[in-house]
Amino acid sequence: MAHQIPKQIFKTLLSFFLFVLVLSDTVSSTRINLKKPCKHFVLHIHNVAYDADNAANATSSTVVNPLGLGTFDFGKIVIFNNPVTMDENFLSEPVAHAQGFFFYNQKTTYNTWVACTLVFNSTQHKGTFTIMDANAMTQPTRDLAIIGGTGDFIMTRGVCTFSTDLIQGQKYFRLKMDIKLYECYN
Ligand SMILES: *[C@@H]1O[C@H](CO)[C@@H](O)[C@H](O)[C@H]1NC(C)=O
Ligand SMILES: *[C@@H]1O[C@H](CO)[C@@H](O)[C@H](O)[C@H]1NC(C)=O
Repeated sequence: MAHQIPKQIFKTLLSFFLFVLVLSDTVSSTRINLKKPCKHFVLHIHNVAYDADNAANATSSTVVNPLGLGTFDFGKIVIFNNPVTMDENFLSEPVAHAQGFFFYNQKTTYNTWVACTLVFNSTQHKGTFTIMDANAMTQPTRDLAIIGGTGDFIMTRGVCTFSTDLIQGQKYFRLKMDIKLYECYN
């Protein structure tokens, strides 16, 4: 009877370690495959800056520090609600709107920090995902983190690669967004 108890403890410990082993195997098998995004699509975002004459057409507005500090607009903050389209045409039916803000944060070059949510509300897609990261605008491509979502994009994470398609002075710019989601639950 006396050495029956350690045997039981041994059995309990063994099954516990087996359980941990199975659990860690399950965890490692759901590891994200960075070579294979679960969703991959390209969208285009259009920004029409408010210039006092274009209230009906403008999609963004400088709210703080319109002149900025120095040559590179340091300190300027812009709020936007920009149409997002499948192709490059500003007049195409938007599939989503990008709602958020960016500010210029470097004195020696153009550099911004962006936080925005892509809001989808169509028959194809309902939901949101949020992009938040530094945007080194002078680089040909910039990777920004996609940090979460709701609806069709619930709990998603991924990377959005910005590249500047077109800049028309202070009035208009268009960015290409190459979106790769690595976690999809929908
Ligand atoms: C989504 O679209 C529907 C139909 O056009 C509209 O009734 C609803 O208010 C919209 N929801 C949001 C959050 O914009
Ligand atoms: C709105 O802005 C876009 C981009 O600058 C331009 O192509 C379009 O002609 C403007 N529309 C109006 C009505 O001003």
